[in-house]
Amino acid sequence: MSKIILTGDRPTGKLHIGHYVGSLKNRVQMQNNLQPDDKMYVMIADSQAMTDNAGNIQKVRDNLIEVALDYLAVGLDPSKVTIFIQSEVPELTEFTYYYMNLVTVSRLQRNPTVKSEIQQKEFGRSIPAGFLTYPVSQTADITAFNANLVPVGEDQLAVLEQSREIVRTFNSLYAPILVEPEAVLPSNKSCLRLPGLDGKAKMSKSLGNAIYLSDSPDDVKTKINKMYTDPNHIKVSDPGKIEGNTVFLYLDAFVNDTSFEEFLPEYKNLDELKDHYRKGGLGDIKVKKFLFDVLNKELTPIRERRQKFAQNLDAVYKILFDGSDKARAVAHENLLKFKHAMNIDYRAEFYKNKK
Ligand code: TRP
Repeated sequence: MSKIILTGDRPTGKLHIGHYVGSLKNRVQMQNNLQPDDKMYVMIADSQAMTDNAGNIQKVRDNLIEVALDYLAVGLDPSKVTIFIQSEVPELTEFTYYYMNLVTVSRLQRNPTVKSEIQQKEFGRSIPAGFLTYPVSQTADITAFNANLVPVGEDQLAVLEQSREIVRTFNSLYAPILVEPEAVLPSNKSCLRLPGLDGKAKMSKSLGNAIYLSDSPDDVKTKINKMYTDPNHIKVSDPGKIEGNTVFLYLDAFVNDTSFEEFLPEYKNLDELKDHYRKGGLGDIKVKKFLFDVLNKELTPIRERRQKFAQNLDAVYKILFDGSDKARAVAHENLLKFKHAMNIDYRAEFYKNKK
């Protein structure tokens, strides 16, 4: 079966290295392995971002272009992948409206991801209806393109499960035309949930604990130097703890075959480095310097590409508009099939019977 891949991000902030290892890197790999019949869509989910930013549209607007720059910077290639803006494809809203009837309010309220986001955002009793129902609109995003694979972060699994339920309901009520989408997670488990610099919650803009793809080398260095390690590892000779040590959690996510050879040849691999740290005699400064080198090597080409695209924002907007036109044509065609399955394609039927 050919692959149809769809994913996206809410433009509420620049993308950070948690997004990178958790999903963006995976997407670039998928893009580079596409077969001739495969399709891949990456969507900037501005409409979804508005579900909790109705009073701050400017924030969404400002970040739309930042996210587009981040996409191009990591190597998403508009000649291989359709990059588009959610609100530029109004068919998605129409799919959403019909899906609303296939899910109950209580089921949405029980969705673990939605539930924890509601708590985190401190809506109290004032949950925007649009926010509560974002899994429904996300189902529209996926099914409008017949996507079968959805590369997302681990936190989105519960939302995807909800999409699968809606698909099953649609298929059993009307006609079995929709595909149940599957999540694609990174294979390196330490990439699933990169903690923030403080080692606490996950990396996020609102907590101010993130390293951004657009950060300068100096910013990255300063942030790494402030990172949480083992509070009881005071002297270099003290034995240190690896568990919960943010620097090592990041190394788990970023170190590759050549990292040691290139930057720390006195160790063969991460296990050796960890052993030394546990025994004592290895200082945080040295480990942090290594992390900086590894990270900076990965971020340098990304930063350079970002700066290049940032000098020509008109070209970036053109990429987004062209992508949106392409995406819209596909969503439109699928909407006609969808309405046929629901038996509400009145006109097509009317004119067919006249012939
Ligand atoms: N919910 C995703 C996020 O939090 C964004 C998104 C919107 C999405 N529609 C999607 C992801 C469809 C995957 C598929 O950033």
